[in-house]
Amino acid sequence: PLVSMRQLLDEAAKGGYGVGAFNVNDMEQIQAIMMAAKETNSPVIAQASRGARKFAEDLYLFKLIEAAAELNPDIPIAMHQDHGNSFETCKSAIALGFTSVMMDGSLKEDGKTPTTFEENVEVTRRVVDYAHERGVTVEGEIGVLGGVEDGHGAGGTGLEHITDPDQAVEFAERTGVDALAIAIGTSHGAYKFTKKPDGSVLKMDVLIQIHKRLPHTHLVMHGSSSVPKDLQDIVNQYGGHLKQTWGVPVEEIQLGIKNGVRKINVDTDNRLAITGAIRKVFAETPEKFDPRDYLTPARAAMAKVVAQRMREFGQAGHA
Ligand code: G3H
Ligand code: 13P
Ligand code: NA
Ligand code: ZN
Repeated sequence: PLVSMRQLLDEAAKGGYGVGAFNVNDMEQIQAIMMAAKETNSPVIAQASRGARKFAEDLYLFKLIEAAAELNPDIPIAMHQDHGNSFETCKSAIALGFTSVMMDGSLKEDGKTPTTFEENVEVTRRVVDYAHERGVTVEGEIGVLGGVEDGHGAGGTGLEHITDPDQAVEFAERTGVDALAIAIGTSHGAYKFTKKPDGSVLKMDVLIQIHKRLPHTHLVMHGSSSVPKDLQDIVNQYGGHLKQTWGVPVEEIQLGIKNGVRKINVDTDNRLAITGAIRKVFAETPEKFDPRDYLTPARAAMAKVVAQRMREFGQAGHA
């Protein structure tokens, strides 16, 4: 059934595991997530960005995820708005039937101008009041990641900044968010690190401090794709042009999970898996043109990545 994200994250905290949040834009992606969830007996967070809602159209997207819930009555599914950028976006997601929303108030609606701390508190508090009255979970964000926020990925524009633990505590207390995304050095997209990250790339000390002071706030890691070399290689082997790059090592995420991280956002790894699988079909069998011939392996490739993450994050067996 569709459940609130709070319920899934409370269970995860009790069990000491994390729950991957995977982005959905189309039917094959929600099917891939459900294939992996069935295989591993995992709870599910399916999330849709504003871009996904535009691409798929709100109602198609909602109905696809609703179908997943109807077809899998034994698997709890939270339907989450990823990176809501205004009260209106969150309100419209709730009207549609989402059970969880992210109010990302770290930047203004343009995605470029930093907000003040007070502005972020105010808009997030408003979303929390509105959502909680309707049984909907809220994720807030304090600090600024690279990637989606700056549009450039690693390298950055100077907007990104690591979360200040004092601000995180005040923000969580004043807004009442259920979950809090913090910036500890990750960024969105494939280009996170230009060399193999060592054990200290992420600001784990900041994460640990925040968790100690906010033991009941579920922490969220954005930009958590691992960008595995084998997935990059498949894309490049079949005509793609990705520059060599490194993502977030799974062991770092697992260390985060030991220290209060309950939601882990992964999109890029699935994009790479899908694209690699489609390129392979095109390269090896250029005579084919039935979309099912490439969407079937694409869906399977994504399901494989998702199942692996579900096991690595510890949610497997906890549906
Ligand atoms: O946070 C970003 C997610 O990967 C979604 O990306 O806004 O391009 O759909 P998108
Ligand atoms: P990745 O680009 O690392 O997959 O991050 C996805 C994300 O944070 C979605 O909100
Ligand atoms: Na943000
Ligand atoms: Zn994100």
